[in-house]
Amino acid sequence: MLTRIRTGLDWLRAPCALLDARLAKGGLTFRLDLPVMGRSLLTGDPALIAGIVRNKELIGGRGTQALRPVVGDHSLIVLEGARHERHRTLMLPHFFTGDMTAHDVLTRKWVARALEAQPPLSCFSGMKFTADITLNIIIEVLFGALGPARHEHAVGLVRKWLGSFTNPAILFLKPLQINLGERSAWGRFLNNRTALHRFIEDLLAKPDSGGVLGTMMRQRRAGTADVSDAELVSQMVTFLMFGHDTSAAAMGWFFHHILQDPRALADVRGEIDLCRTNASNALADPEQPDLEQPDPEQPDLEQPDLEQHVLLRSAIHESMRLSPVVVHLTRHAVAPTAVGDYQIAAGERVLPCMYLAQRNPAVFDQPDRFIARRFVNPKPEWRHSYFPFGLGNRLCAGMPFALRQMVLIASEMLGNCNFELANAAPAKPVRNMVLIVPSGGPLLRRLA
Ligand code: HEM
Repeated sequence: MLTRIRTGLDWLRAPCALLDARLAKGGLTFRLDLPVMGRSLLTGDPALIAGIVRNKELIGGRGTQALRPVVGDHSLIVLEGARHERHRTLMLPHFFTGDMTAHDVLTRKWVARALEAQPPLSCFSGMKFTADITLNIIIEVLFGALGPARHEHAVGLVRKWLGSFTNPAILFLKPLQINLGERSAWGRFLNNRTALHRFIEDLLAKPDSGGVLGTMMRQRRAGTADVSDAELVSQMVTFLMFGHDTSAAAMGWFFHHILQDPRALADVRGEIDLCRTNASNALADPEQPDLEQPDPEQPDLEQPDLEQHVLLRSAIHESMRLSPVVVHLTRHAVAPTAVGDYQIAAGERVLPCMYLAQRNPAVFDQPDRFIARRFVNPKPEWRHSYFPFGLGNRLCAGMPFALRQMVLIASEMLGNCNFELANAAPAKPVRNMVLIVPSGGPLLRRLA
């Protein structure tokens, strides 16, 4: 009993330390008694992970039911089966196959504004700095150009809403869900949620709303999208929630790793300069071919038109390998089944664990080292050993969008300014809701 409680607390406080200890003993697949999820099978074994992705008895979507009050009943995150597929078909074109280059203008604009507000020698959290940028971008992508005052209002509403459940206990413990108005945490959460919903509903009532929401409203009027107002609100809050903090946490880890590796940093900077020169030469060349778009059937980690940022992309992937912000996926057995030699009871959770898989010494040479060039030539056989964005039919709905944005944010920041780490001690992996983030942000100092 005591061991169970200790494991649960370790998992909540420092899951990476617990997983490192298992890995050190050669443990790639094992069972753990986990808080909320109960007895679960964790695995980083690529053969077992490939089997889990194919296994129809192991489904996603149930492990996130506690988020229903936050994202609503129609969110991609909580849906299953045919409804899940239908909503992926509606949402993915905007973040997988749409004109990704259109978002670049927004990324550059918001990075430039954030840098302007950060004078030389100032210190700031790399994660918070990026989260401000990515929140501004996702609001503008979802709702279009709202004008400065309404945009700021939207930022405030999202921050208040997200801030009302920073302690996840409120989502998991039903007794805490009592509405005593502003005096209670649950009451404040409900009020903040209502305010955000009203904001989106106001946009739904306007004929000329922009962004993804406006496009979907136009598709609905034209009869090409079958989606209700409630469904639209649910997807908008889902993308607000998952569409900015994840990338910011991953960028926090990227700064943590690259700023400790002067050689990799110099190489990446050299490449950014070269890409800029090539881009301005290409602009002057009217014969440039159109850029390819990512193929939805073949989600690819490569971004065709960002191909020249080979080292930067590799360093970002390597950072996500070493420090995945989501440490495991959650699959729920809807019937008794097997994962390799492990028998799984109906209702049991199976967790394909990227932290274990991505540090597997049988797959990655020197798995605990940041080797910035490792992903210059990624190996096809890494497919089930490197999956920071998930796998299968629940693969992250924003993967190409996030990757593109991260490359651009990094190239704008590192190409225009110098930074150093200002933390007194190296950042450690700490839990922030479901994300594992670098403690302290990490703290960056802008040098010039
Ligand atoms: C570095 C940034 C990101 C990382 C590491 C990440 C990671 C993940 C992971 C691991 C999953 C679960 C996949 C599974 O269960 O198999 C997921 C799902 C999801 N992500 Fe991301 N994500 C990132 C950025 C984004 C962005 C920018 C958006 C939106 C624009 C987004 C939207 C979603 C949605 C809606 C889902 C649910 C998909 C479904 O259940 O069908 N994510 N993400």
